[in-house]
Amino acid sequence: MVFGGNLIDISAKIGSIKIKNPTILASGIMDQDAESIKRVFENGAGSIVTKSIGLKPKKGYLNPTFVELEHGILNAMGLPNPGINDFKQEIVKIKKYGIPVIGSIFGSTSKEFIDLALKMQKFGVDALELNMSCPHAKGYGLEIGSDPDLVYNIISNLKNTVKIPIFVKISSNLTDIIKLAKAIEDSKADGIVAINSIKAMKIDLTIRKPILSNKIGGYSGKAIKPIGIRCVYEISENVEIPIIGVGGITNGKDAIEYIMAGASAVQIGTGMYYRGIDIFNKICIEIKDWMENNNYKKLSDLIGVAHI
Ligand SMILES: Cc1cc2nc3c(=O)[nH]c(=O)nc-3n(C[C@H](O)[C@H](O)[C@H](O)COP(=O)(O)O)c2cc1C
Repeated sequence: MVFGGNLIDISAKIGSIKIKNPTILASGIMDQDAESIKRVFENGAGSIVTKSIGLKPKKGYLNPTFVELEHGILNAMGLPNPGINDFKQEIVKIKKYGIPVIGSIFGSTSKEFIDLALKMQKFGVDALELNMSCPHAKGYGLEIGSDPDLVYNIISNLKNTVKIPIFVKISSNLTDIIKLAKAIEDSKADGIVAINSIKAMKIDLTIRKPILSNKIGGYSGKAIKPIGIRCVYEISENVEIPIIGVGGITNGKDAIEYIMAGASAVQIGTGMYYRGIDIFNKICIEIKDWMENNNYKKLSDLIGVAHI
């Protein structure tokens, strides 16, 4: 890729998955149907993670499910999704458009994860992301992802069943993130995605009650970036498998910070709310700009440099 007269390579590699640039659409934002996913891809994303999909259709929680706060967004959608069988048509279309796609799934047992993973693989996704970190789902997400032994068993069973790479998305709401990261590496997962939104609450002074119908939600956006950076840095000190950094990225410097902390690629969700759907193109330009000003030609040379 030519920029400013120099060759600057911002392609990324997460295990066996190669993408044209390190920006990936995070799960849950504009990714429930093939047409919105196509729009995000056309606006520069290197890859896309789908909305987290379960076995059966799920309506999600009643409104209010979403509130904008000073430095981020608080949401408790309740994992609304059409169910795995109806999602087939979207994956088939996404693959027809030639988009590299990571299928996000959530389940409450090893068997559920296996059923979902086998279907996603058959539909044609390039990799899987296991949502083991949703902060407000009962019986799913963080409730599963807080138990390293359970996480190890679920992933080991999956690794014996599916062929495509498996990334595991974890939470910062843990007392020992390193123990979980090591269990994930021991289970032979292909990468760790850190972090999901963070358990939080907003109270409305007028009604004197939590705003969200579910009371507790997940906080995302600018405010959570230092927490995501800390998690990626700590994980990277302790495991060898690739890390995908996510949480509060809104510009190229944020992405570079995650890469310096040890991430091989980054995901962007709430940032789209602040900077529009073309945030992916903008971030790629900003990354190249920073690299040119700092004499870097290959983005991969920046991975983990903050540890040296
Ligand atoms: C409205 C909304 C819905 C989300 N839904 C999911 C989801 O279905 N699965 C998942 O793994 N993460 C979900 N997330 C979390 C994001 O993928 C991401 O981890 C988090 O928002 C932090 O990144 P950000 O600050 O760039 O948004 C959701 C986030 C938001 C704001």
